[in-house]
Amino acid sequence: MNEHNLISRAQQVLRLNDAGDFTKPSLGQYPHQWNWDSALIALGWAHFDLPRAFAEVRSLLAAQWRDGMVPHIIYPTGASAYFPPPEFWQTDNLAHSGSIQSSGLTQPPLIATMVRMIHAYTRSDESRAFVREVFPQILGWHRWLHTARDADGTGLPCIFHPWESGADNSPRWSPALDRITPTDLPPFKRRDTQFVSPDERPLAPDYERFVHLIDLGRRARWEPRTLLEQMPFVIQDVMLGAILHRADEDLRALALELGEPTQELDAWLARTRENFDARFWDDARGLYFDYDIRAHAPIRVNACHTFAPMFAGLASPAQAARLVREHFDNPDEYAPSDNSRFSLPSTAKHEPGYAPRRYWCGPVWIQINWIIAQGLLRYGYGAQAEQLRRDSLALVEQSGFREYFDPRDGTGCGAVEFSWSAALTLEFLNQGKSNG
Ligand code: DGY
Repeated sequence: MNEHNLISRAQQVLRLNDAGDFTKPSLGQYPHQWNWDSALIALGWAHFDLPRAFAEVRSLLAAQWRDGMVPHIIYPTGASAYFPPPEFWQTDNLAHSGSIQSSGLTQPPLIATMVRMIHAYTRSDESRAFVREVFPQILGWHRWLHTARDADGTGLPCIFHPWESGADNSPRWSPALDRITPTDLPPFKRRDTQFVSPDERPLAPDYERFVHLIDLGRRARWEPRTLLEQMPFVIQDVMLGAILHRADEDLRALALELGEPTQELDAWLARTRENFDARFWDDARGLYFDYDIRAHAPIRVNACHTFAPMFAGLASPAQAARLVREHFDNPDEYAPSDNSRFSLPSTAKHEPGYAPRRYWCGPVWIQINWIIAQGLLRYGYGAQAEQLRRDSLALVEQSGFREYFDPRDGTGCGAVEFSWSAALTLEFLNQGKSNG
């Protein structure tokens, strides 16, 4: 691998997608600002342009709603060829929405973790001032997630749309989506399949359900309480809950550094620890499963989210050992085998919904590899973490900075010149340096 060349190609991708103070995930397919993309992209910028990293975070938080939510898609530059366009969401002029056009949904809250990492790399007066500036807004978002999205008093946030998970088209959502029959669908025209082969994108019946759920959200005027009462899709998502817990930990560390009180954060951390296992852990299978609030049942689909609690330190050492030995290292599920060379398939290979090229049904994602590698390192599984780092770099080297990759042979899929694949390449390369 020519490391120097990879660094300069990754930087070029971020410059190419740079829209001034936010970065498009990909010029054709995703020409606006996405929430968790932006957080990861900020980390990438921090490796070669710190002011630009700060601008990325500021532009994301500028879209915060009055009630604290940070939306999942932000349209700072108005409409484009992308569907849904900003007006489709009907979020303008709500009492609780923000001043920049956006979707009515949210996404996994990675920003506190990214801000802490960026500050740790820099440790300058400038970055400390930046942390002080953004801290209250991030705290406000976490408070909103723990309250407005609390369906049952556990403080474990729920999602109302698969797009809020970030893992939009995972087979994890099929049992809940299959119960929904779209009615009175508003007229719409998909645009995603103009840029990416339909074989790599969601199937039409699923996409119709995505649009139907948006329609229900806008009829509820995106009021969290009304959504909680009325939406047919209400799920406590293991990965989003784990990412929030990790972000609470990171925000707490920043609070201590700033001399801010930590009681509220301590209470969220304790409550999540108290409720997480009872809600998500399946001891018979040795896996974490999402929980379907409407069906009052776990969603027993084995996919990459099951490793996310390690990122947050929520797994016990014994649980982590089971996740690694019984699943990560198992060639029928996630480990390389005759039918797959690259780690980590986003859905276990033996799942009926596994499809190696379809969006979230099997392809490898660089950001998932990074999140899981961080978790593995936290529990001392250095060899497995290194396998994810090595495979991620081999994939972008072989196929370019694609959105996702076929685990069988590494073929690039989805959008091209994808920003977080580039940003996390910079992070993985930097991590390699500090590992010696
Ligand atoms: C899409 O358009 O598929 C996006 O992932 C929604 O967030």
